[in-house]
Amino acid sequence: MTARIAVFASGRGSNLQALHTYLERAGGAEIVLVASDRAASGALTWAHDRGITTSTLGSGGDDARAILHLLATSRIDSVVLAGYLRLVPAEVVRAYRGRIVNVHPALLPAFGGPGMYGARVHRAVLASGTRVSGPTVHFVDEVYDHGAIIAQWPVPVFPDDTEAALAARVLRAEHLLLPRVAHLVALGRITVHDDERSRGAQAARERAAFLLATPEDDALAESMAGAVGA
Ligand code: GRF
Repeated sequence: MTARIAVFASGRGSNLQALHTYLERAGGAEIVLVASDRAASGALTWAHDRGITTSTLGSGGDDARAILHLLATSRIDSVVLAGYLRLVPAEVVRAYRGRIVNVHPALLPAFGGPGMYGARVHRAVLASGTRVSGPTVHFVDEVYDHGAIIAQWPVPVFPDDTEAALAARVLRAEHLLLPRVAHLVALGRITVHDDERSRGAQAARERAAFLLATPEDDALAESMAGAVGA
């Protein structure tokens, strides 16, 4: 049976598109619902143009009952936050524990939390002087950017980087990482456990699989090798 994914997005939706492209090839799961807290979001327009069901969440996206109703009526198995800026209500997190993932454009637990989104994240990374950044995909819990980390990819930070250049480099890695993780979560191959050790072992195995599967973006693979091997 094909797993049914909902994507929540506030912005232009490039991660949504990357996930859609990946799932078309990988199979086993499909995006059946795209929801946004912003009626003007590019993600909604893109989904609507492709005949995917869309929904605008009420102001602030904090109406738990409305979200739960939406997910239930669409028979959603897992939820992907792809550039979604609102906190998911606790009732929704509880109902879908271990089935909601988020992509964050920095290496958590650094550079995360309330107010750390978009250009602010990359500005903070540049100001810190760190040489490595990159996306994190993690399970969503009741606190911003706090749930169990599933996978991260290193991306170099160059001395002459601008926020825009760093954001673009990290975004390319997001487009490779998020679809793989979201696919495996949708298929039930990555799960959140109460036991930290078994969770860590599981995550490590899955991470190894991602690293073996990266060469489709040669330029990014080269820059990643430079970042970790230098
Ligand atoms: C991504 O960098 C995501 O990590 C961040 O917002 C951006 C969304 O981009 N939280 P898009 O809407 O997927 O193009």
